[in-house]
Amino acid sequence: MSDSNGKKTGSDLSSAFLEVVERAAIACARTMGQGDRHGSDQVAVEAMRETLDKVPIDGRVVIGEGERDEAPMLYIGERVGLAHAASGGKVGPLVEIDIAVDPLEGTNLCATGSPNAIAVLAAAERGGLLHAPDLYMEKIVVGPSSKHAVSLDASVADNLGAIAECLGRRVQDLVVVVLDRSRHERLIAEIRETGARIQLIGDGDLSAGISAAVRGSGVHAVIGTGGAPEGVLVAAAMRCLNGEILARLVVDTPEKEERCRAMGITDMNRVYRSTDLASGTQLVFAATGVTDGTLMKGVRFFGDGVRTSSLVMQTTPRRIQFIDTLRLREGSNVKIQF
Ligand code: FBP
Repeated sequence: MSDSNGKKTGSDLSSAFLEVVERAAIACARTMGQGDRHGSDQVAVEAMRETLDKVPIDGRVVIGEGERDEAPMLYIGERVGLAHAASGGKVGPLVEIDIAVDPLEGTNLCATGSPNAIAVLAAAERGGLLHAPDLYMEKIVVGPSSKHAVSLDASVADNLGAIAECLGRRVQDLVVVVLDRSRHERLIAEIRETGARIQLIGDGDLSAGISAAVRGSGVHAVIGTGGAPEGVLVAAAMRCLNGEILARLVVDTPEKEERCRAMGITDMNRVYRSTDLASGTQLVFAATGVTDGTLMKGVRFFGDGVRTSSLVMQTTPRRIQFIDTLRLREGSNVKIQF
């Protein structure tokens, strides 16, 4: 599929984006368990940046590693893709794409070899992903059946009651994922009061959010306050999976309000849905497991090669792929590892 000028669209590029997240995951998976979360993140960022520049796009990072002065690579506003890597504009006009990245979601998870660290990228036509400040966001993430039944302003008991009804099960049969943080003490107590089961996670509300939209994953909702950048990435995934995220920025100081205004956000209490955070019509979402997780296995090195497990999704046409890739060394005696 091409746009009206015959240029490739994001959907055509899903295999190129797959390569980007696979390379980032392989790079940081080598550092698993080394206890160096910044080192793990850095190698993922470098691999992702290098691979992105081979993709035939005129790309712009809208969610990245932070502001330019604190992030040497993949900073917000950075131009990426072949259009910028090729000197002197030798490549023809390339499709303009906005990109949200989290080269290593769950830096601590990788540093400690814990489950659910992933490398992630979402892409959309220009303007199709919210340029969100790096603040906290209150979130509730649910799957397709409950997406019209929850509200950020409802009580925990009402939301869980509604989710249970939509899923045709008892509240006690729900599993709610919550980041294990002191700010969630009250939330956890309220969930416990309902009788629902809780999975407390050390990090990674993005991969938990994806699981909440996939039946059979054993996760029925993710509730609590986490990163806004992760919220935008979850929204892109929800658009592909038909799930929903409801989110509200936590703007509790004048300085944060100023940062929001600088990014064009005027309503500090706005409740965003997935279509607000990821409004694009040509969305692509790609993630590769770094450590073993609910939906994807982690990177496996087996001597003759490396095996990765990825999820690649797009909205137009709607397609979801679970992709298992083996990269093998050259040689006639190479053995495949299952
Ligand atoms: P990193 O990938 O930067 O390590 O962040 C992981 C994460 O747990 C996210 O999944 C979550 O949204 C956010 O951090 C929560 O932030 P905090 O650790 O400050 O509570």
